[in-house]
Order: sequence, then C-alpha cells, then structure tokens
Amino acid sequence: MNSDLNNWIIKEQNFDINKNKHYEGAFCQGNGYFSVRASFEEGLQGAGQGDIYERSFKSVTTEIQRNPISKWGTYVPTIMGSHPALNEVIINLPYFMDFSFSIQDEKLDMHQSTIVDYKRELNLKEGTLIREFIWIPKDNSCKIKLKYIRFASMEKKHLFVQRIEAEVLEGKALLSLESGIDGNVTTNGYNHFTEMNTNVISDIITLDCKTDIGNRVMELCNLQSKDINFNIIKDEKKILYKGDKAVSAGENYVFEKRSVILTDRDLEDGDLKERGLNLINAANISYEELYEEHRKVLEKKWGISDVKIEGNDKHQLSMRFSIYHLLRSNNEDDPRMAVCAKGFAGEAYYGRYFWDTEIFLLPFYIYTNPKAARNLLMYRYNTLEGAKENARSYNCNGARYPWQSSLRGDEQCSLWEYADNEVHITADIAYGIWHYFSATKDYDFLINYGAEILIETSRFWRDRVDKNKEGGYDLINIMGPDEYSAMTRNNAFTNRMVKFNLNKAMESLEIIKGKDEEAYKKLWNKLSISKEELELFKEIAEKLPVPMDKENNYILQSEDFEDYADINIQGIWKDKSKPFGFFATQEKLYRSKCLKQADALALTMLFKKEFTLEQITNTYNYYEPITTHDSSLSPVNHAIVASWVDNTEHLDKFTDYALALDFNERLGGAEEGIHIANCGCLWQLIMTGVAGIDTAMNETSLISTKTSLPKGWKKVEFKLIWQGKTYKIEAMENYTRINEI
Ligand code: BGC
Repeated sequence: MNSDLNNWIIKEQNFDINKNKHYEGAFCQGNGYFSVRASFEEGLQGAGQGDIYERSFKSVTTEIQRNPISKWGTYVPTIMGSHPALNEVIINLPYFMDFSFSIQDEKLDMHQSTIVDYKRELNLKEGTLIREFIWIPKDNSCKIKLKYIRFASMEKKHLFVQRIEAEVLEGKALLSLESGIDGNVTTNGYNHFTEMNTNVISDIITLDCKTDIGNRVMELCNLQSKDINFNIIKDEKKILYKGDKAVSAGENYVFEKRSVILTDRDLEDGDLKERGLNLINAANISYEELYEEHRKVLEKKWGISDVKIEGNDKHQLSMRFSIYHLLRSNNEDDPRMAVCAKGFAGEAYYGRYFWDTEIFLLPFYIYTNPKAARNLLMYRYNTLEGAKENARSYNCNGARYPWQSSLRGDEQCSLWEYADNEVHITADIAYGIWHYFSATKDYDFLINYGAEILIETSRFWRDRVDKNKEGGYDLINIMGPDEYSAMTRNNAFTNRMVKFNLNKAMESLEIIKGKDEEAYKKLWNKLSISKEELELFKEIAEKLPVPMDKENNYILQSEDFEDYADINIQGIWKDKSKPFGFFATQEKLYRSKCLKQADALALTMLFKKEFTLEQITNTYNYYEPITTHDSSLSPVNHAIVASWVDNTEHLDKFTDYALALDFNERLGGAEEGIHIANCGCLWQLIMTGVAGIDTAMNETSLISTKTSLPKGWKKVEFKLIWQGKTYKIEAMENYTRINEI
C-alpha cells in the first residue's frame, strides 16, 4: 500500500450479511449537501427498500429497527417529509447509485452469488469507497473481476461519481447490465412522495418527485461506456439504462456513471430541470479531472483537521474515521441546517438536531473551521422564530429551543418528558454561542445574531423559573442530560447553564455597548429591552442554586437525586451487548439511582475551572459506577474527565470504547447511522483531555495545563485555530508543545 495512505484506509475483508447494515452506515459518503449510505450498487436480494409498515415514536435507545439486512439511504438534509406519527422526518430519496450485472438469469448478489477475493475499502483521505471481487456465475461460464469506485464530489456539491471496471479473467458470457434511478424507496416504512416522474433527455435519464410537504427533488444520471449500447426502459418509479455485451477472457470494460441531485430548497435559484441539466453537463469532464478536483478540496479540509496519533494504529484510523464523518456531514454553506444526531448516515432520530450540535460537535468546527461553526449557529438564529413560538406554546415569553428541532425550529419530539422537561437545550445553545465568540472574537456575529438569541432565551428562563418561599428561584420538573431521571428539582447542569445564559445576555450587551454604541441602541430598541428585565436576569442568575453535597464535596445531579432508590445495575443487566434500558422499565429507571449518561460530569466538562480537582474527582467517583452509558454521548465525556482526575485506567477504557463505537464491526454501532456527537467529542478529548488545552470558555489564552496520553500512545499532533491564528499542537509523554504556524 502507498505509505502515504497508511492509517487512512478502513478495510472490510469479508462480506458478512449480518454486518452489512453496519457498513452501510460506517462507510457512508457525502459532501455536506447530501449523504449516501454505503449500500451495494446492485442491492441485496430479499432486502426490499419500498416496504410500507407502521411506526410509532419510541426511544431510539431501546428500539429494535426494521430492515435487518440492508437500508438504503440518500439524504439531502433540507428535504424533510411529514410522517403522521413521527412528525417531521428526513426523507430517504430515490436511489441513484443503482447498477447491476446479470449473466443468464443470475443477478449478481454479494450474498447469493459465488464471490472470491472480496474486499471493500473506505479511503478516508480521498473520500472514496472501493469494492473489488471476482464473480464466478452459477453457470460457470466465466470468471469476472469487478472493481467499483465511487465518491460524492466535494467540489461539485450536487454530484456523485461511480466508476465500474470489469475484467474478464476466464471464459465467455453474455453480460447484461442495468443501471438507473430507483424510486421504490420508503422512509421508516412510509411513502413520502406524492408524485414521481421519470424521463429521458437525450442520453440523460431523470427522475423528479414531489414530497408530501411539497418540495421537489430531481435526480439525473448519465451512464457512459465505449462498448455497450444502452436502451432506456422506465416506469413511473424507476428508470434504467439496459444493455448486453458478449464478453470473453482478456477483455476489459469501464462504465462511468455521473449522478446529480438537486432540489427546489437549494440556495441556488432557477428552474430545476435547467439547473439539473447544467449540473450534469458540467460533470462531463474526465473521471480523473473530477476525482482530482474533489480530492483537492478534501485535502485542504484534512490539512487543518487531521489528528495524528503515534503508537496505536487502530486508534489512529478510528480517530480519522470520526473526523471523516464530521467533514462529510457538515454543510458550511447552508445556514438552514446543522448536523443531525446520526450524521445523515441513517434514519434513527429522523434527521433532527439536538444539544449534540452545540455541546458535542461545535467545538470541532470552532477550532478547525470557524466558518462552519458560525453556520451551525446561524441555523439556530434562523430558527429563532420557531423557538419563540415554542416558548409561547408553554405560556412563556422569549425563545425556547425545541429538544428535537425541525428545519423551522419547531418541537418534533412527541415524548412529553423530553419535550417538556429537557429544557437545557436552550441554555446549551447560549453556551455554544459564547464558546464560538470566545474562540473567534467574531463581534459581527455577536452583535447581529448571538446577542439576540441570548436575550430571547433569557426571557424564556425568566418565565420558566419558579420563585420559592425564601425569595429564591428554582427550576422544577427538569430532565437534565441524564434521561433516566425525568422530573427532577434543580438539576445542577441545567441550573448552571441557565445562570450562564442569563449572565451572557447581560455581558453581550455590555460588550456591544463598548464596541458599537449605534448597534447597541438598535438592539435595545429592536428587542424592547428594559433595565428592569436585566435586573431580573441578574437576580435569577444569582439566586438559582447549583446543588452540591457539601459534606462529601461533590456536585449533586439534582436536589432530589438522593431520594431515588438504589438499584442493582449489574444484577439486572443480563446482556451487556444491549443497553441497560432494555432490562428495566422506564418507570423504574425514573425512580432509581442510575444514570443513562454523564450529567453532573457533563457540567464539569463544560466548566472545568469552576470546580476544584477534588470536587471533580469526587463527582466522577460518585456517579461513574451508577452510569450505564446507554447514551453514546457518555463514554467520551468520561474519558475527558478521567484524564483530568488522573484515572488512567478509565481514560484508556473510555477512549478505547468511544473510538470503537461506530468503527468496530463487532459492536455494529453504525447500523442506523453514525453517533456523530461521539465523533465530535473525540476531537474534544484530543484537545482538552490528551493535550490538556482548556477551551476558550475556560482560558483566555491558548495553554496546556497537563498532558494525558492514553496507554500506548507516543505522540499526538493536530492543529487548531484560536482567535484567528493557527497553531500546531504536539502532545508528548509529559508535555504539550504549542507553536503558531
Ligand atoms: C441521548 C441524548 C442525545 C440524543 C441524540 C439520546 O440517546 O440521551 O443526550 O441528545 O440521544 O444523540
């Protein structure tokens, strides 16, 4: 292998039907504008993609998913549909990768056909997926070596490119080929298309469809081959190029397919068909040129975001795997979308946005691509109206961001505990705004967008707190990050974040006043701010408690946490390959001392400097043994804090686990999509845990206070951008070197 590509390529050595769905998620490709799951071009027999079934809203943690073998997925994040039970969901669009060979009446199939020397590789550096194998058809007429290469162009954002090479090794046969666009797809067992039309425009095939909320999507394909003449056949939902060729030993064939996907929600204006034709015509340059322009864009992205780990190749590859997904799922040019909880690599969580964005993903973008970070926050600004309506629906003023956000910013979560009580999301967005501002000093963003969100969200908190008998304030009926405690009183994480939100609303006004008096006045008038309301923000921020167990010096998850019953976690958890939540009812979880995920520990991760090392250590030691890590957001948060409290055993354990989560085929974590928050937080682990660099939320300058290399790691090298300057960071055994470049 080219040594430049050492630790850049993930290999699947054997095809195992039971692992197929995992690889469809793990090897997902995309360029921010769209993402495609890594299904085989020809599909798999018996894995119908157009099935209709009923689905209701359930907890993703304990849900058993349908489509056990294969799930196609073609997603454009701004195209959502309306499901009668699930609300707004991302739509699985028609399958443009379709390409299949047949000999006699045998259709090539990875599971049913005789396949030799199979291998599939995802090249993270170049964003290509390559599959190679030898096919021996059932009639034994020949042996054909096939190689498939494909990529979602990083340069031409609507373009997907496929190249298939066939080499006849032995014998002769009549090789039949079909390739086109297949509209027989459903999402969560539901048909979201109200219209579908197929068409031919000279040698280009097209499918256009209308979704149930009225958006139009168009796909165009162009299949090229020097050697085969194609006919085109079509019905309403499927359109195909079809051709035959008598082939014999020693011959080689190349097929190239270019596909374009576009919608009427795109930022570009113009007639869909005309734009589509222009886009597909612009792709009519050589495969090598298309590849090169794509590769160059990706090379630039890797130039700033790569993390080099010396000492553990598996961890190195897996770290890059996480970064690859962070790069391919984010669209830095479209402020109407963020990165959904599954990184657009599957339909679990329906393509929606959670606190994952601001707390787990945003830091990666803040420190490697501030433009992308700003864009993510602009999504929240653009959904401020939705958040205001949401506040009003709870009889509150201001803005209350939804737990599961739609494109407009409306609440999509239909489980009341989360929608009603998991309110910390609103303050998490405030934290994200301040984090971005602190690390970039982007005053323009603060003045024109950030401050408005901070004020409006503070107005919501003013109405959401309850005044108590002592004249103080409480937040009652709260679900903190730990979703196994539903209706708590004064959750430390939420309260601290709310105080932060209120304080930063006031501070942002002071900053703007000092920077731009005119803008300050404008904002003051636009939002009809009053001195009295700012006084009240101040009072609430001061009086809202952050509960501590004073005697034992640790953070109390909530004031009532100690009232919960002890639960024998290990005794109940019969099968560790499934989440703990499978073995206890929700009702039991809600009254027991067990955590789904880091909660007080998430607070220490965000406000490291506010707690003493002893407090952080005690908090870690108290909660970790009763944390089930049923949420993928939890292990890596623990790894970070473990590094601070010198728990090297746990640093190693949780780092290894978080890196394996979607990467290790044995765990099969990527079946329903990528745990993208885990990917983002792994990058934070490198910065704040391994290299010991506090974020701009905790430090005003870029310094490292401690270096913690997991076992076997010799050195970690990466870059980060801090207030406009780029630095090279090298974390070595006992220290971290920081150099401006
Ligand atoms: C976690 C949430 C998270 C969501 C989406 C849930 O299982 O408990 O914290 O936001 O998944 O990733």
